[in-house]
Amino acid sequence: MNILLIGAGGREHTLAWKLKQSPLCSMLFIAPGNAGTALCGTNLAIGVSDFDAIANACTEHAIDMIMVGPEEPLVKGIYDFFKNNPGLQHIKVIGPSKEAAQLEGSKAFAKAFMKRHRIPTAAYEEFTADKYLEGVEYIKKQSLPIVLKADGLAAGKGVLICQNHLEAAAEFELMLLRSKFGEAGKRVVIEEFLKGIELSIFVLTDGEHYVLLPEAKDYKRVGEADAGLNTGGRGAVSTLPLVTPELLQKVREQIIEPTIAWLKKDKLVYKGFIFFGLMTDNGEPKVIEYNCRMGDPETEVVIPRIKNDLVELLMATADQRLHEISIETDERAVATVVAVSGGYPGDYVKGKVILGLDDLVLEDCIIFHSGTKKDGDEIITNGGRVLAVTSYGANIAEAVEQSNYMLEQLHFEEMYYRSDIGFEFTLQDNRT
Ligand code: AMP
Ligand code: GLY
Repeated sequence: MNILLIGAGGREHTLAWKLKQSPLCSMLFIAPGNAGTALCGTNLAIGVSDFDAIANACTEHAIDMIMVGPEEPLVKGIYDFFKNNPGLQHIKVIGPSKEAAQLEGSKAFAKAFMKRHRIPTAAYEEFTADKYLEGVEYIKKQSLPIVLKADGLAAGKGVLICQNHLEAAAEFELMLLRSKFGEAGKRVVIEEFLKGIELSIFVLTDGEHYVLLPEAKDYKRVGEADAGLNTGGRGAVSTLPLVTPELLQKVREQIIEPTIAWLKKDKLVYKGFIFFGLMTDNGEPKVIEYNCRMGDPETEVVIPRIKNDLVELLMATADQRLHEISIETDERAVATVVAVSGGYPGDYVKGKVILGLDDLVLEDCIIFHSGTKKDGDEIITNGGRVLAVTSYGANIAEAVEQSNYMLEQLHFEEMYYRSDIGFEFTLQDNRT
């Protein structure tokens, strides 16, 4: 079958790498892709939310299936766009409907869904400008820190963790009354701060059944030892020693299964990945957030651990046959370390030549491209996150060491990466 993959990051290069391994994949197109996805298929210069251009490309290239990487086209309704168009209905779209994508597109929608269905999550209230004063009173009564969330998509910047009441009230005012996050902040969720260890759980669901994919932990903070600003993700690891069978059982029973059962009962059409951002405290999991797609850079460790044919998995999802599938995982540990441009997550310069990409081939090590593009014979930087170097190892320490070694062979001006990805677990690995 011919497949169109939407997106341009490290997640999409990883998905393209995996899709291309399937004998079921005839032609693979990526819109818009990067220099890495161009090694797996044909890049098309189309924006991720340009549905008309995507539809034209589907007709031109006889596309049978669309796999959607990022949240934006899902929240904007790409699933419904294809389902509601008689000429395009035959194309299988992997992803939730517009309404179901609200699980990520609206924090208030997601919180109400969890509250209504008793899925464990932080206590919260939501406020709009007409309830501004009530919101300020609510903030005064909360214990610290206080978490404020812009309701809509805000490019990963819409969550603020405030250390005192004054700061929380000031930020609340900026969001609700001074449009700090534009439309996304016209509604604000104020929620309880959850302590514990954060981890990411992924499933693929066909709306009725689901398969559990390998878990991951990403490292969002810019600096070593998790210091500094949040970023899109500086690295990730999978397997996690803390994810015991008992914890997984609780996550399945209290979180995954009720979520999928209620999606169906609430008539929210969902055929795609669900990413559960969880906090666990004393072995008790709670949902921090839902995402309606795979994570980046989590995909760069989760997908390489899946032995199944990805196209077969996606076809079973589209045809509601996921109960026939069992996931086979590679038992090795996998880590990815992200090389970023100087200045990221603030301003950075694009267009730096990347050197060393073909110089060294290490077994069990894959270089996934994020923000890269081809420029004549050279590959140049084209984003804040530039490369995600993934390695397999007997344990996390070994996998991270191999990725760091590979990164030492790569170069672009002002490239930097965190050398301590997986630090909590690498210390544990070294002790055993
Ligand atoms: P999000 O943009 O929803 O992914 O949130 C960004 C980050 O904020 C999460 O990955 C958590 O580290 C943190 N966070 C969000 N909500 C909470 C909460 N209720 N308690 C503690 N940390 C939170
Ligand atoms: N790495 C977090 C995300 O993809 O949202």
